[in-house]
Amino acid sequence: MSKIAFITGGAQGLGLSITEAALDHGYEVAVFDRDAVASDALVTREAARNRKVQAFKGDVADMSAINSALDALGKAPDLLVNNAGIVRFHPLMETTEEIFRSVIDTNLTGAFLVARACAERMIANGSGNIINITSTAGIASSPGVNAYVAAKAGLAALTELMALEWGPLGVRVNAVAPGMIDGGVSTPIYQNNEAARTRRGGAVPARRLGQPEDISAAVMYLASEAASYVHGHQLVVDGGLTRSVMSQLPWTRD
Ligand SMILES: NC(=O)c1ccc[n+]([C@@H]2O[C@H](COP(=O)([O-])OP(=O)(O)OC[C@H]3O[C@@H](n4cnc5c(N)ncnc54)[C@H](O)[C@@H]3O)[C@@H](O)[C@H]2O)c1
Repeated sequence: MSKIAFITGGAQGLGLSITEAALDHGYEVAVFDRDAVASDALVTREAARNRKVQAFKGDVADMSAINSALDALGKAPDLLVNNAGIVRFHPLMETTEEIFRSVIDTNLTGAFLVARACAERMIANGSGNIINITSTAGIASSPGVNAYVAAKAGLAALTELMALEWGPLGVRVNAVAPGMIDGGVSTPIYQNNEAARTRRGGAVPARRLGQPEDISAAVMYLASEAASYVHGHQLVVDGGLTRSVMSQLPWTRD
């Protein structure tokens, strides 16, 4: 019987790349996404390729929608990819309570609620695998991303706690932290802007921006048996960017 992957925000962007990779790896995929149009388009596209995707429309901060979707699966998911996320660009002084709370709700509270609901079912089933999508923004802040940095740093910390509490019960939990990716929410930054792509990509040790497929490949590695001894790890997939801070300093002998 095929394994089931439950992918939040799996209808677009990086989540879509993860959905496609999971299908390629033989998973049955259930996508939980609040965008009904993108979800329906995904189901239709994959059906045309003879691949079945179930789409559940809902918000990750809505516990009853999460439970309904998971109950409808009929069995515990084997893999959860906690990918749904939003970013709002405002300096802290212009970040209203409503903006702050909505970013925390989706990226942190929502990720926790989905993980707990899946883990409960995985533990009852004796096994499972959870991968939280964090961000290098949770490791190295950049001005203007307000609650997003706190949510992603919080999710990285929660990943460790989930691994400690649920690992002994058969659930492996890890995170993938994407860096600057040419896709998803960052598409407007680079679309039709070759100069931005070249300038930013050139600042990365790997000398390019990341692609959504770099992230889905990391997710598939962590989901695989090859990673069976990897627990509570945040795999940074950023071409070396967050490790390059010392190389920015002037050489002291100059
Ligand atoms: N694209 C990047 O550059 C980048 C970099 C670092 C981290 N990330 C992280 O990757 C993940 C995916 O981001 P993306 O760039 O693909 O974004 P995206 O906006 O392209 O896609 C996000 C998907 O999640 C869904 N979604 C958003 N909020 C939701 C909610 N409350 N409930 C249910 N579904 C919801 C959207 O409908 C959409 O389909 C996020 O967690 C994001 O923080 C992205």
